[in-house]
Amino acid sequence: MINYDKSATQAIERSYNTPDIARQRLETLKSLALNVGEHVIDIGCGTGFLVNEMAAVVGESGHLAGVDFSQDMLDVAAQRCDTLPQVTLRQGSAESLPFDDVSFDAASCTQVLLYVPEVESAIAELARVLKPGGRLALIETDWRGLVLNSAHSSLTDRIFNAFDEYVPNANLPARLIPMLKAAGFGAIKVDAIPIINTSNSPANFSAGSLAWTADVAVKSNKVTQDEANQWLADIDSKAAAGEYFFCVNRFLFSAVKL
Ligand SMILES: C[S@@+](CC[C@H](N)C(=O)[O-])C[C@H]1O[C@@H](n2cnc3c(N)ncnc32)[C@H](O)[C@@H]1O
Repeated sequence: MINYDKSATQAIERSYNTPDIARQRLETLKSLALNVGEHVIDIGCGTGFLVNEMAAVVGESGHLAGVDFSQDMLDVAAQRCDTLPQVTLRQGSAESLPFDDVSFDAASCTQVLLYVPEVESAIAELARVLKPGGRLALIETDWRGLVLNSAHSSLTDRIFNAFDEYVPNANLPARLIPMLKAAGFGAIKVDAIPIINTSNSPANFSAGSLAWTADVAVKSNKVTQDEANQWLADIDSKAAAGEYFFCVNRFLFSAVKL
């Protein structure tokens, strides 16, 4: 399992500060169409980028609750939101939210459910805390759709298969619609949010994520350190030649609690 400690917090802070993920947050905000005074929950809020942006929309007459099970993530979120009295941050699990039934007008959960072992319970909890008519925005990635310029396509497959085995719910997007319907959501709409990087600049989302994925595969004994190094060196040489290409889709699921 992933350890959401200080080092994971720093990695999220870097990669979620990139324009790629800022654009994802804009799409999430557009889909939720929040109003001043609304009560909103962000589950698995991480370092609080989305909490901060949603709190600015609902204003001080609204309420923005961020929940995460990592205190290290919440500490950074608290600093980010320290001038926003409408924000409360709570340590808690997506599978057992520390809030009453029918408390929120809207909910977000972005790039979290793949890490949650009891994903149906987490979706049931989202339905429980939303008011009827409450809006939901969920974001998940399907890493099987990765497009990467690599000379080692079988190594790419082995490295990403190792990632699939490492997280409890790999490739969730293909399975989410029936889960949402079963939990009482309707008006389900899905949009793709592509992340396309044509250089491995540190300002891009993919810069750290490929090295991190290779490391997961080594630690899971699915590839050797030499193989991981060979895979990363090839990607670096492609980047040096101006031939870097990375694309993955994130999927935004918008839904309404019936
Ligand atoms: C990839 S980060 C995404 C952070 C944030 N949603 C964003 O988009 O900026 C995943 C977050 O989910 C949190 N998380 C993972 N499993 C969780 C669970 N079962 N309950 C609550 N939080 C969880 C982690 O601590 C981490 O902060």
